[in-house]
Amino acid sequence: MNTVVLGLQWGDEGKGKAIDYLAGGFDVVARFQGGHNAGHTVYYRGQKVVLHLLPSGIFYPDCLAVIAHGVVVQPLQLVEEIRNARALGLRLDNLVLSANAPLILPFHQRLDVVFEDSRYQRIGTTRRGIGPAYEDVVGRRALFVGDLLDEQGFRSKIAVLAEYYNRLLAAWGQPAEAVEPAASAYLEAGEFLRPMVGDSGARLRRALREGKKILFEGAQGTLLDIHLGTYPFVTSSNTTIAGVFSGTGLSPRAVDRVIGISKAYATRVGEGPFPSELGGKEGERLRELGNEYGATTGRPRRVGWLDLVALRHAVQVNGVDSLFLTKLDVLDGLDEVRAAVAYESGGGRSEDFPCLAGALAGVRPVYRSFPGWKTELGGLRRIAELPGAARAYLDFIAEYTGARIGHLSVGTEREQTIAVDLK
Ligand code: IMP
Repeated sequence: MNTVVLGLQWGDEGKGKAIDYLAGGFDVVARFQGGHNAGHTVYYRGQKVVLHLLPSGIFYPDCLAVIAHGVVVQPLQLVEEIRNARALGLRLDNLVLSANAPLILPFHQRLDVVFEDSRYQRIGTTRRGIGPAYEDVVGRRALFVGDLLDEQGFRSKIAVLAEYYNRLLAAWGQPAEAVEPAASAYLEAGEFLRPMVGDSGARLRRALREGKKILFEGAQGTLLDIHLGTYPFVTSSNTTIAGVFSGTGLSPRAVDRVIGISKAYATRVGEGPFPSELGGKEGERLRELGNEYGATTGRPRRVGWLDLVALRHAVQVNGVDSLFLTKLDVLDGLDEVRAAVAYESGGGRSEDFPCLAGALAGVRPVYRSFPGWKTELGGLRRIAELPGAARAYLDFIAEYTGARIGHLSVGTEREQTIAVDLK
């Protein structure tokens, strides 16, 4: 079954682990949006590996790993990740990089930082240049991975873009960005990547025709989607189901199943509304229990209770078939677990996720309380062993969101994942 795996919160739901767990059954794993703002943590042979651009499929030698054209690519970063993966003993001769993937250039990174530090836009981005790179795509002036394969063409295109960006930087009172040595370093990376560059759409369509099983690997999360998230505190791509199609060139008929990943609580990095956020000692404790520090930037994550209003929104906009619930074990020691089931605002009580940008900032969550299970779940291998209190929490999540729970994760190791079928 061709499967899409998507984050249903603000990213960091544990997609890396979920995808690594699921990827074993697939012939192809494809990334379709985002860039090296993502940080997927996977434990490989007992070692912690953080992937930013490479699809998690690289851990399975027979699995074709695809970086499709919806992904924005910083080629130096990609080369480094490939080298690191090879140092771990992975061959990585099974990678296809789309020639049509837009490049993240040094100007993009510069501007991301300039905007972040200005009073116009403080999103709390990863400062990797993601937003400005996608802006170039929409602005019809982007350079692409394929451009790296034509030295003269690339040099002349980047010179024109440098002029454009240096005008902008000058207007912001910033020193100009030199084209060299970056252009040469990019071309060198292009030579390294050349054997992997191709038509990812055609490869995926061929795989489909041949009956291969494809896993589409989402990055970030639904609430960071440029159109459906908590705008303007979002990333610059479609992190939701639509991104699969615009980002790969496959049709909706290519997808058989959508798995949504959610933590058993909630986290967010960067600015923006987070109604069920926990501050003070409670927040500190949950952050420590869950080791909630960003995989990409190391920033402490904001933490809070599971927000079921937001989760149901995510389930509905993505057409989620089943939930993969992660980090349930983090809640083991708590006397009480809570989940937001409605929002209150000047307009009264609502169970609907507000569609107006900014409206979420004004709401107060209404909680439902669940008794804690006070049992260590890390050793759990069968769903029948789940304590009643934990089961009650999960049953409520499934009932409220309308999605069954298909998988449960209770620790960092691949083995600490249980396939269940809780309706
Ligand atoms: P950008 O994607 O770097 O532009 O950042 C925009 C917003 O998305 C910020 O709030 C980031 O913290 C957030 N973000 C981007 N990538 C990730 C991720 O992989 N996990 C969690 N948050 C992310």
